[in-house]
Amino acid sequence: MSLIDQLNQLEQEALAALERAADLTALAEWKSAYLGKQGALSRLSRGLGALPAEERPAAGARFNAVRATLEQALERAEAQLKRIARQHAFEADQVDVTLPGRAPAIGRLHPTTQMLRTIYSVLGEMGFQVWESPEVETDEFNFQLLNMPPDHPARDMWDTFYIDTAPGEPTLLLRTHTSPGQIYAMRANAPNPVRAILPGKCYRYEQVTARHEMQFFQVEGIAIGEQISFADLKGTLVAFAERLYGKGVKTRFRPSYFPFTEPSVEFDIECFLCGGAGCRVCKHSGWLEILGAGMIHPTVLRNGGYDPEKVSGFAFGMGPERMAMLRYGIDDIRWFFSGDERFLQQF
Ligand code: PHE
Repeated sequence: MSLIDQLNQLEQEALAALERAADLTALAEWKSAYLGKQGALSRLSRGLGALPAEERPAAGARFNAVRATLEQALERAEAQLKRIARQHAFEADQVDVTLPGRAPAIGRLHPTTQMLRTIYSVLGEMGFQVWESPEVETDEFNFQLLNMPPDHPARDMWDTFYIDTAPGEPTLLLRTHTSPGQIYAMRANAPNPVRAILPGKCYRYEQVTARHEMQFFQVEGIAIGEQISFADLKGTLVAFAERLYGKGVKTRFRPSYFPFTEPSVEFDIECFLCGGAGCRVCKHSGWLEILGAGMIHPTVLRNGGYDPEKVSGFAFGMGPERMAMLRYGIDDIRWFFSGDERFLQQF
């Protein structure tokens, strides 16, 4: 058989073998068998030198053509196999987007926080800015500057947690109300007018019941300026209650007593829990007290740096937990600090 015939035969055979190579390993084997240094093509090329000179160019050209054909065929086969391998990898990695997802547990805001934020936004729109004051207070700020000197009988209204301090150091306590904040807000603004609210946590040494907690929030409010009257206080609080509970809400003011306001009132909202019929939360009265308020006592105005001859003002202190109870129909204040998820998940 002539060298050219042998080359043709080799080409046929190699291309057929390439068809059968099913993976990259088989391709590598095929490459060394046909195109490698010891491969079939190299072996045939050794016969070139033995040819007569006039046959050599044609055989050489054929030889080069076969090598080129096989190399191109190899490249195509390689590319094809790689494409298939990638395709398999993609298929194996595929995400089934039809599987139902796992819903993440979403946290939520505590009902007190939600109530506080509502209070901030309603009073904020009425021109009150938010201030803060310390949770651990001195006797001076919690009582004395609020017109309650040591041994004043009205101190009994606030059963107090005292903090151990060394003899001679000022008496420290957990604030029993946010009213000491009045003094800070006044001193920062006097003699200019001020409208501020001071939210915060308060503590009282109390028997815990459905209505009373030993820890709770308050939001203190003050408005001081020329000619501020009791009518302003009433208007502000009624407008506030309407914004919170709706236009038709029933409210009432009752005369009361606080050493730091004169006159003093308490402000009640109709008990929504029983619709005014009477239940354990409203102590069977049909009303729920949500805040204490009054016209700021001249002594307190003076302690805050104001001249009571020139300005007047009102103050109030509201209980957001009580207000949340009314808003959401919660019948026991102890839920708020229970940390019970069955309770918290409802808001
Ligand atoms: N500090 C009072 C309390 O805790 C509430 C109050 C605040 C009353 C401001 C009058 C004015 O009961």
